[in-house]
Amino acid sequence: MAKAAVYKWDDLPKQDFDGGLIRRAGFRQDHGLLVFTWLDPKLTRLAPMRASFDKIILNFDGEQYVEIDGKAHKLTPRSMIRIPANAAHTNWPAGNAGAFAIEVHALDSDLLYLADWQGDFPAKGKPATTKTRAAEPFKGETVKDTTGIVYEWDKLKREGKYENAMMRTAFKSRGSLVTFNYIDPSIKKQPPHKHDFDQIIMIVDGTIRFYLDGFEPCEVGPRAIIRAAGDVLHAGGPENGKHVLNMDVFSPPRPDYVYLADYQGTL
Ligand SMILES: [Fe+2]
Repeated sequence: MAKAAVYKWDDLPKQDFDGGLIRRAGFRQDHGLLVFTWLDPKLTRLAPMRASFDKIILNFDGEQYVEIDGKAHKLTPRSMIRIPANAAHTNWPAGNAGAFAIEVHALDSDLLYLADWQGDFPAKGKPATTKTRAAEPFKGETVKDTTGIVYEWDKLKREGKYENAMMRTAFKSRGSLVTFNYIDPSIKKQPPHKHDFDQIIMIVDGTIRFYLDGFEPCEVGPRAIIRAAGDVLHAGGPENGKHVLNMDVFSPPRPDYVYLADYQGTL
């Protein structure tokens, strides 16, 4: 039986941007794109850009400033922000250590070709010309109180499931929903399930035993990603007796879970 395609975030095929100060890798789902983004410590602010779709930036390592329409917001490790469609935005590391984030894009992203290596979808091909952005000093305002704009995912209110063996919350954009599942190793084994849309599963902390119909069951450890296609049975639970934090990404937002992000209001 074939092995399911499990990828470590840090081993994804990366491409250089802006003279190698930004490195990116792509991973696609049916209606969304994840852009893994490494910001070099030497990166300074580059000219803002705009996108026709909402983005989410999930910041994992290091600190970075995310500027939206002239206002800079500091993201610490394990925090996130939504960049509304058409807003002028740019980001750069806040400390001396660089930063690593996962961005959630829509298929309209001009970076869709970064997922061509995946082979699950028709190749987009790299555009003939890609813009190099100029370095420009920041002249805007740094927002001191980012309450209601920047969220630390570990501090969000959670809902209990499976006798509270799983606690969950979510964060949304107009195009996607990211759910955060904090799973205790005591959780009862859940039977495989399926749905007619695809699902990205990312393990942040801990290790799960993952089942995907048609493939050998496998372990998925920290900083790994896997895609369950629509209508394919899948299941996963903690392995090794350790707590798990798993993030799932649904594009478009999964209607039956979107209430978990009601605290963000109407977008
Ligand atoms: Fe699922």
